[in-house]
Amino acid sequence: MNVILIGGGGREHVIAKYISKNPKVENLYALPGNGGISKFAECVKISAEDIDGIVKFAKDNAIDFAIVAPDDPLALGAVDKLEEIGVKCFGPSQKAAEIESSKIFAKELMTKYNIPTAKYKIFSKIDEALSYIAVSDCPIVIKADGLAKGKGVTVAENFKQAREAVMSCMKDKTFGKSGERILIEECLSGPEVTVLAFTDGKTLIPMVSSMDHKRAYDGNKGPNTGGMGVAAPNFYYTDAIADECMKKIFLPSVNALNAEGRTFKGCLYFGLMLTKDGPKVIEYNCRFGDPEAEAVLPLLESDLFEIMLAVREERLSELEIKFKNAASCCVVVASSGYPASYLTGYEIDFGDAEKIPGVEVFHAGTKREGEKFFTSGGRVLAVTAVAEDFAQAREKAYEAVKLINFEGARYRTDIGG
Ligand SMILES: Nc1ncnc2c1ncn2[C@@H]1O[C@H](COP(=O)(O)OP(=O)(O)O)[C@@H](O)[C@H]1O
Ligand SMILES: [Mg+2]
Repeated sequence: MNVILIGGGGREHVIAKYISKNPKVENLYALPGNGGISKFAECVKISAEDIDGIVKFAKDNAIDFAIVAPDDPLALGAVDKLEEIGVKCFGPSQKAAEIESSKIFAKELMTKYNIPTAKYKIFSKIDEALSYIAVSDCPIVIKADGLAKGKGVTVAENFKQAREAVMSCMKDKTFGKSGERILIEECLSGPEVTVLAFTDGKTLIPMVSSMDHKRAYDGNKGPNTGGMGVAAPNFYYTDAIADECMKKIFLPSVNALNAEGRTFKGCLYFGLMLTKDGPKVIEYNCRFGDPEAEAVLPLLESDLFEIMLAVREERLSELEIKFKNAASCCVVVASSGYPASYLTGYEIDFGDAEKIPGVEVFHAGTKREGEKFFTSGGRVLAVTAVAEDFAQAREKAYEAVKLINFEGARYRTDIGG
């Protein structure tokens, strides 16, 4: 089969690596891909947001199957447009992807179908939003409705911060159209858990749970990032909680999307908080998380491409999907300065990191020149180690990270710890 993979980060690197193990994948192209992905796929200079360019490439190259991995092309309807020209896709339609691209849509869906989530109110007028926070208790959570590159949420500790968040969304239009409407939510507390699940709209199979680390620095300090590391499985996610989530959250979410005529096929991401009143949904994403994918997919024992085909063909119930009885630790190595401004173009010395058994080095922001790799993004590498238990996985991941060098390389030293 001729296959295209849309995207160019660490998530797409792990997907490219695992699907290329399947002999059915004869020609794999990544749009745009990155340095690491170029080991498994031909990288084509077409942006993941250039839907017309992607569709044209698929037509010109007789593409059979597409994996649309990032949120932006899914929200722009890449799957609908590719399916229209006969390309089968792993990933949700635009209507189903709205579960991520509109937080208001997701909230209204949860309310309608009794899926546990934080209490909220929707605002489209600044005055009304400000009057509401003036009489609310802090902390309180302000969220832009639409996609905002992970920057649209403020957990405000006091009225001043809440007011600034409202003004930033609605007056300064920091997030453009994404902030025209906002949510103001009750602030929940408890450990956060990510559960990725394969679903074809009929069957849902959760993957191993995980814990992301969003803040830039050790001790969960500093600004939010795209994610600095992941521990999997998540220590807080017991079997009893998993059962409860399946009954009260996962299956009801799939059924709700079906009932609304928005059947979801692909990877559904549940961002959960384990509150004292039980697990609640913080958000949905319509795709694999990045870096969660780099920690969770290495634990998958079954063939990823077969699963993706089965999801598209609504045959997921026929598969037996197995995970390793192991744990993984993923440490992101970033450019100095990230998530604020940073310099790129530094050569990366991998040392013998990739020779450590159980270690895989995924490229998030690199470019390749011949056999050399250079930094090209804020998050540069996602270094994952798999071992029998988390303590060993963590030790190996850090052993590998210490062997890797580039100018300004920076990482958190407390992933999962
Ligand atoms: N209602 C809430 N109560 C407490 N914390 C929240 C709440 N909503 C979001 N958060 C915090 O903000 C983070 C980002 O929010 P989320 O809805 O996941 O948006 P996004 O990932 O799109 O930026 C969450 O991971 C969580 O730590
Ligand atoms: Mg989130």
